[in-house]
Amino acid sequence: MRNGMTPEDPPMLDIAFAKPALPKSGALVLLLPEGVAAADPAGAMWQAADAATGEAITRALSAAGFKGKPGQVTTILAPGAGLSRVVAVGLGKPDALTPHTAEEAGGHAAVALTREPAAAIAASGLSADMAVSVALGAVLRAYRFDRYRTREKADDKPKLAKLTMLTDDAAAAKSAWPAARGIAEGVFLTRDLVSEPPNVLNPVSMAERCKKLESLGLKVEILTPKDMAKLGFGALLGVAQGSANEARMVVMHWNGAGARRGKAKPLCFVGKGVTFDTGGISIKPAGGMEDMKWDMGGAGTVVGLMAALAGRKAKVDAIGLVGLVENMPSGTAQRPGDVVTSYSGQTIEVINTDAEGRLVLADVLWYAQQKYDPRFMIDLATLTGAIIIGLGHEYAGLFSNDDELATQLHAIGNATGEKVWRMPLAEAYDKQIKSDIADMKNVGGRPGGAITAAQFIQRFINGKPWVHLDIAGTAWSSKDSPTVPKGATAFGVRLLDRLVAEHYES
Ligand code: BES
Ligand code: MN
Ligand code: ZN
Repeated sequence: MRNGMTPEDPPMLDIAFAKPALPKSGALVLLLPEGVAAADPAGAMWQAADAATGEAITRALSAAGFKGKPGQVTTILAPGAGLSRVVAVGLGKPDALTPHTAEEAGGHAAVALTREPAAAIAASGLSADMAVSVALGAVLRAYRFDRYRTREKADDKPKLAKLTMLTDDAAAAKSAWPAARGIAEGVFLTRDLVSEPPNVLNPVSMAERCKKLESLGLKVEILTPKDMAKLGFGALLGVAQGSANEARMVVMHWNGAGARRGKAKPLCFVGKGVTFDTGGISIKPAGGMEDMKWDMGGAGTVVGLMAALAGRKAKVDAIGLVGLVENMPSGTAQRPGDVVTSYSGQTIEVINTDAEGRLVLADVLWYAQQKYDPRFMIDLATLTGAIIIGLGHEYAGLFSNDDELATQLHAIGNATGEKVWRMPLAEAYDKQIKSDIADMKNVGGRPGGAITAAQFIQRFINGKPWVHLDIAGTAWSSKDSPTVPKGATAFGVRLLDRLVAEHYES
């Protein structure tokens, strides 16, 4: 999917599964729980490698003080028996092992293996599902956005292209892999979209990329400014009017419920897609403005999520809607003080043209409810700097009118590592966005800036269960983490894919 779109991208790590056998050459990873001995079942490959190398592995691990702690990595170069390197990766305490910690171990392995073209990972004693998690973690960490590097020496590029997971139940792991791969494809698509520079990715070109999802079996509709003007999308079109690049709304349908269709209403996922946010006439300072290329992160996540659901053939009917605009200052741009009429009919006084995301979401969310009568709606948006002040880069802000959805997402966030923290909604905050001239204004002052933004969005929720995820602090990372290289994180793809899988399928 990703490769078909852009042939110059490095392909996703190739994953194979095989029965455990000591490789005769190349690299070998030993996944070792804390406190394991070579004689234990989980130490089977360690023991085999030791036997072939005159105990070189045990000597090196004890010299390095390797204890099998989570994230602990010891590399042994050329230990003998034809092996180029043996990497021990700690799994932590056996009873604390989860799919998430297994993914992290895979990520650590991928980093230790970048100089090797191929490697085997011994998942001795791990279930087939855990072996798949390790492989997924390695794939996710090995991601690289390489499209615009034309002068990098081959020697400097990561070499790892193929991983073979050695697991007792290789057949079960092999048949579980395609679903995990589908999720990785979705994550990669999101990361690609979010990484693209804003001269390449604008509302029109992003809509074209969405259209390519039809090859995965999705139905994709694109609405032009003319279509949206006819509907009365005054809020979204007001943001777009200063840009030479036309706005688009894209609606992506995944119909995977099959015979179950009709019993359950569709799930709707809505994304803020500001392909570049200058702030408009309320222009942002120059320092760091380049970051605003990823102000389409919410939309990018919705697109990747739809690809992931299709890629793993999820048994659900889901609709992804993204509002795509560029927020520019120009002679045609919206002014502070303008009053626009949203698709819902409610009027908005635009006090600050930099509070544009909520204006885009207002019309798209209203459309989703009017047109599709969804079971629930979840929106994602890089909405406020204020959420970064509140939660930093560790948790996304969650706002909801539905305790059940909020509870489900909180639990899944902890399990997937895409963590969310619930923030309040309350009448008292809503007062901050009262306008003297219109039904509301688009900013509520500095206090509780992420909350008043959510209150604004809630005015466009017409009785449906709804969650708003403010991902301004989590869509992009300035540092590597075990399964997410620095840059675009695709935060939300894993979270919402698991939400669907655990609670809304079949
Ligand atoms: N896209 C920004 C929010 C943002 C800031 C995302 C930093 C990622 C990193 C949003 O459109 C914005 O400009 N919000 C303003 C709102 C304010 C004018 C009420 C903000 O947070 O400063
Ligand atoms: Mn803005
Ligand atoms: Zn923005």
